Amino acid sequence: MLEERMQLILENPDFKFLSAFKKSEVFLVGGAVRDLILKRKNKDFDFVIIDKSAQEIETILKNYGKVEAVESRAFGVFKFMPKRSKKIIDIALPRIDRWTGLGYKDLKTQTGVSLEEDLSRRDFTINALALNLEGELIDKFDGISDLKNKIIKAVGDASERFMEDPSRILRSLRFACELNFTIEENTLLATKDLAQEIFKPLKNQESETRVAKEIMAGEFLKGFNANPSKMIGFLNELKILKDLLPEIEAMKRVEQPKNFHSEGDVFIHSILALEKLQELEDNLKNNPQFINSNVVLKPTSIYAKLGVLFHDLGKPLSFISAEESGDRIRFTGHDIKGAKILNKIFKRLPLSIFAKDDKLHVDKEKLAWLIKHHMVCVAIDPNTIRLSTLEKYFFNPDNRGSELLALSYADISATIPPSGKPDFTLFNRLIKKLNEVSVIIYEKQKEQALPHLLDGNEIMRILNLKPSKKVGEIKDEIRDLQLAGKLKSEEEAIVWLKANKF
Ligand code: CTP
Repeated sequence: MLEERMQLILENPDFKFLSAFKKSEVFLVGGAVRDLILKRKNKDFDFVIIDKSAQEIETILKNYGKVEAVESRAFGVFKFMPKRSKKIIDIALPRIDRWTGLGYKDLKTQTGVSLEEDLSRRDFTINALALNLEGELIDKFDGISDLKNKIIKAVGDASERFMEDPSRILRSLRFACELNFTIEENTLLATKDLAQEIFKPLKNQESETRVAKEIMAGEFLKGFNANPSKMIGFLNELKILKDLLPEIEAMKRVEQPKNFHSEGDVFIHSILALEKLQELEDNLKNNPQFINSNVVLKPTSIYAKLGVLFHDLGKPLSFISAEESGDRIRFTGHDIKGAKILNKIFKRLPLSIFAKDDKLHVDKEKLAWLIKHHMVCVAIDPNTIRLSTLEKYFFNPDNRGSELLALSYADISATIPPSGKPDFTLFNRLIKKLNEVSVIIYEKQKEQALPHLLDGNEIMRILNLKPSKKVGEIKDEIRDLQLAGKLKSEEEAIVWLKANKF
């Protein structure tokens, strides 16, 4: 089996360089072997070559593509880009990394070690496998058995592995979420003991932490995307939610009105909503008609997941007690406040680190839009919403309407009144309304026939107005009339504008 999969790699033109080495001296190592065995896709291929010098490896590789030495050439750690390919392949001599200080920058590579030594300094047993081109597997730390039993276990002494590089603590949580594995007892104990190492400041660089912010954000996003409630659960268990996302920690013990939220405080509600989002994903997978909606719901999108996590960010700061409000606990304006708090989070934790074409790419403004509008589907009668607004929210690819619907479904499912039955009245009405208007809107969008009428600047010029909310309202009204077929050209719109004394 493994030989067959290795054969597929050998047949790929990007790996032609491998034919220049003896089959027994080239090893695929680390995550690539793990994923080969799990039949998972892996973009990164790392090879370790034994019995050759750095100089020999470089000379051979140069015949097949571009070679760049990472650190100094003497270490034999190369980034290789095959001819006519954009793939980057890591090729190295067996090596271990030695830390000369606490930080990720204080890393010194040491070569002249055996393959076994190289594997022994890797993070987890499932990542410490090596496979040579003959299909021979080196499994010194029972990685295969841990893969079978779905276990994340540190290689050797867990505390040592985590002290060398505390980003491995986040990696353990991330792999447990991605692979649906459990973390072995001693490894989990060490993650709990040492989790604070992640955030320790570097000597002489107080603003920098032992684990770089980009790594924190990347590992968090990967784990959270794979299993949102499990990842937040881990951060909570390791007592690092307060360090990574203090705004979520602040939701704890923020009371909610009992006759809407019998489930508990804002934190409990938010975690439950994440679980409900996962349920929605499962339900839609089993039955695409689970919700009879013409506008698709996208619970799998990273925006929907982060949107659910962050939707009530504004609640802790908008809390108004029953005594203060005169009737019940209220959170007036928490949607707007929440969107602002998101800025603060992004300043501290770079959640937009993934490239635009990556499924984990997050645009802060688009996420803020979701938070700002999360009450639309849960608190407003859709029959009072303008057609042009529905179009803007749910039929415009610039906005995240499909994610907003998924977020709202999860939010409502996790808003449990004392009767135990969430109230979907407004949500169902919105879906019905969207199904009705979708016919008109899709038809018009398909025709592409709707001409440009008037934009905000033109409206201001014609009516001699200054920028204001009113200009936007007039623009929306013009769009409503256009969708209803009552205004067909710019001229008609101008006549209408002048006739209606705004
Ligand atoms: N590794 C490690 N400690 C780290 C990062 C990486 O020991 N902090 C080792 C592991 O053996 C890992 C290999 O380097 O498998 C390659 O690392 P990387 O490409 O970052 O991760 P993968 O395990 O391949 O997983 P993914 O591609 O999903 O990030």
